[in-house]
Amino acid sequence: MNELKGKVAVVTGASRGIGEASARALDAAGARIVLTARTVSDLNRVAGDLSNDPITLEADLSAPRAGSELAERILASVGGVDILVNNAGIPMRRKPDELTEEDFDRVFSINVRSLLMLTLGLGPSMIARGGGSVINISSIASLRGPLGRVAYAGTKGAVDAMTRALAADWGPDGVRVNALSPGLIVTSIWEADRRDVPGLAEQLEERIGLKRWGYGADVADVVVFFASDASRYVTGEVVAVDGGMARVGSAPRRKD
Ligand SMILES: NC(=O)c1ccc[n+]([C@@H]2O[C@H](COP(=O)([O-])OP(=O)(O)OC[C@H]3O[C@@H](n4cnc5c(N)ncnc54)[C@H](OP(=O)(O)O)[C@@H]3O)[C@@H](O)[C@H]2O)c1
Repeated sequence: MNELKGKVAVVTGASRGIGEASARALDAAGARIVLTARTVSDLNRVAGDLSNDPITLEADLSAPRAGSELAERILASVGGVDILVNNAGIPMRRKPDELTEEDFDRVFSINVRSLLMLTLGLGPSMIARGGGSVINISSIASLRGPLGRVAYAGTKGAVDAMTRALAADWGPDGVRVNALSPGLIVTSIWEADRRDVPGLAEQLEERIGLKRWGYGADVADVVVFFASDASRYVTGEVVAVDGGMARVGSAPRRKD
């Protein structure tokens, strides 16, 4: 499990959830991790468990220029990077008649603008190192038409499209760009619903081919695959990590 030894990997939204799990899995595979998010105490908690001289950088990705400024700070700290996991994101649940322009700007600023600007800021250092891997955390919300999340779904559709476009731009330089689309993953964004809405967790579980919610580690293991040389001939792909929720037919479990 040392396939990423000597590599530097940036993980945004590394303070909890899928980002935390990805930071842990990439570290276990030998990479040095740059962890970023807003909550310094949580970044330090995660970094404290890592083995390969991790670095933490506080950053709020909602602000204008936040992505490009974070890229500059990362390069000043570690010189160059090989792997970028664009995981930071917010859900933005709003019914169509409740969604404001401010809501729209906020979710696009974090999920799309900063994701792209950070990537554009770090790409040249990957190219200078002979190649790299960008892994964007999208969502099956871009495939399935979720209720009450029109702006969020739009951000993830943008992520999917940008994944393919950048893969074209950077393919000749050896930088691969792929996206993973999680389904239902047990993280803080589902905490209140799973606790407060009776039967919801079980009801949603019935819609998943594998009949269970996912965990951060289920996504993180696929992140490691896309970060590693094992995926060297894969670029421009958007891969669901959803237990078969988006595309696999699913019937309620038989009771007999
Ligand atoms: N969980 C799911 O079922 C699911 C499904 C599909 C896709 N996804 C995607 O997976 C990614 C991670 O989600 P998650 O479920 O792990 O959510 P989470 O537990 O809420 O984690 C989100 C991460 O993003 C960071 N973040 C949020 N706002 C930020 C901001 N303004 N600036 C910088 N960092 C910010 C958070 O850190 P701080 O609060 O410390 O800043 C946290 O580390 C997201 O892109 C999400 O859309 C999740």
